[in-house]
Amino acid sequence: MTSLTATGKRLALMVQGAGVSENVLNEMLGQRGFAPVVMVSTVTELVTRMRALQATLVIVPIGGIGSEALFEQELRKSVGTIAIGTATTKDADIVLAAMRSGILEFLVTPADGADVRAAVSRVLALCAVSSERGQIYTIYAAKGGLGTSTVAASLSWELARRNGHQGVCLIDLTTTGAGVRVMLDINPMYDLGNIAARAERIDRELVRSVIAPHPDGIAVLAAAEEVDAAETLSMDSASRLFDVLRQEYAYTVIDSDHHFADPTLSALDAADKIVLVTQLDVSALRSTQRSLGVLGRLGYSADKTVIVVNRHTDRDRISVVDAEAVLRRPIDCRLPNDYLACSDATTNGQFVQRFAPTSPLVTGISALASLLSGSAALDAPTPVVPAEKRGFARMFARK
Ligand SMILES: Nc1ncnc2c1ncn2[C@@H]1O[C@H](COP(=O)(O)OP(=O)(O)O)[C@@H](O)[C@H]1O
Ligand SMILES: [Mg+2]
Repeated sequence: MTSLTATGKRLALMVQGAGVSENVLNEMLGQRGFAPVVMVSTVTELVTRMRALQATLVIVPIGGIGSEALFEQELRKSVGTIAIGTATTKDADIVLAAMRSGILEFLVTPADGADVRAAVSRVLALCAVSSERGQIYTIYAAKGGLGTSTVAASLSWELARRNGHQGVCLIDLTTTGAGVRVMLDINPMYDLGNIAARAERIDRELVRSVIAPHPDGIAVLAAAEEVDAAETLSMDSASRLFDVLRQEYAYTVIDSDHHFADPTLSALDAADKIVLVTQLDVSALRSTQRSLGVLGRLGYSADKTVIVVNRHTDRDRISVVDAEAVLRRPIDCRLPNDYLACSDATTNGQFVQRFAPTSPLVTGISALASLLSGSAALDAPTPVVPAEKRGFARMFARK
């Protein structure tokens, strides 16, 4: 669904009889990238249009319209749509009901031009904030054990530190391994299974009710305890979930599964950046090489993927330069090996940063956060050595 009309302009819908001058509206909205307001004759028709096209703004008469429940339901589902309600009297019950249904602004009609302009300006200011796209980072590795979950959790912690309380969501899509429940020692009441069970109505409200706030300021969505439940999350439902998360959080970090199940594919698609986790050993690099092939075949541009070498040490048998030659791409970030910090943090059910704040891994994660969110540069670039010159490269030669 697009938030723009065919002409690339934003869409405003108004129900006839809402009591607001179409001319005043068009004059205001036209300057702000809107197409001429589309008039609909009933609230039922408004709901039908809202289902088909994502409107940025809807103006609806309230009080005695009969279809409030339907409209309220649709508005709740319509991430990114804001509503102005109108009525001929400022009856307290009507205003309260309107606010409860998610209508952000109330106008007594007939309203004069100044009132309409003021109300529209206020809601558009809100809409400017909510239309800022949150970033989605999908952490992926084609096999387990390379540190996907460790990177996902600690990255979400660092982004939360930078962005304030509950601005970041960590979502665990894994169906094998310990997952965030064990890693962070949490036992949330709800999880992805609850989302899968209500896949036909994935909206802000459902997502908010399912997410568990971690005391460190990260909103956590745990994997389904019943593996079958996670599998019922279709590509479409997963994509809807990521849309909602994008609206709700400045950053969503996805700890994705290692196989290409529907939710994994959806998570890769939705990602602004894919963090491909690898290590400097033959088996990890081989699987990373395959993953890069798959990501290429999925049509993603090379700059969508960031390659992270995890558990890097000076004693690695394969150097970064060797790895770059094999992958035919630069390694974007190296995260040092810190076995004690990681295992102690997991044993204690804490984020690495909390348990071992001075670990070099913490510095590495901070550099990764900067790289992803587009600020500071990272490791000095290392030259790519052609694969042919490396003896072990033959091990990776078969595509
Ligand atoms: N940078 C690191 N240094 C040391 N140990 C690490 C590092 N990253 C991950 N580990 C450890 O490696 C193991 C696998 O990590 P995990 O994040 O669970 O991998 P995955 O989710 O890819 O299966 C865990 O025991 C974890 O503590
Ligand atoms: Mg994992």
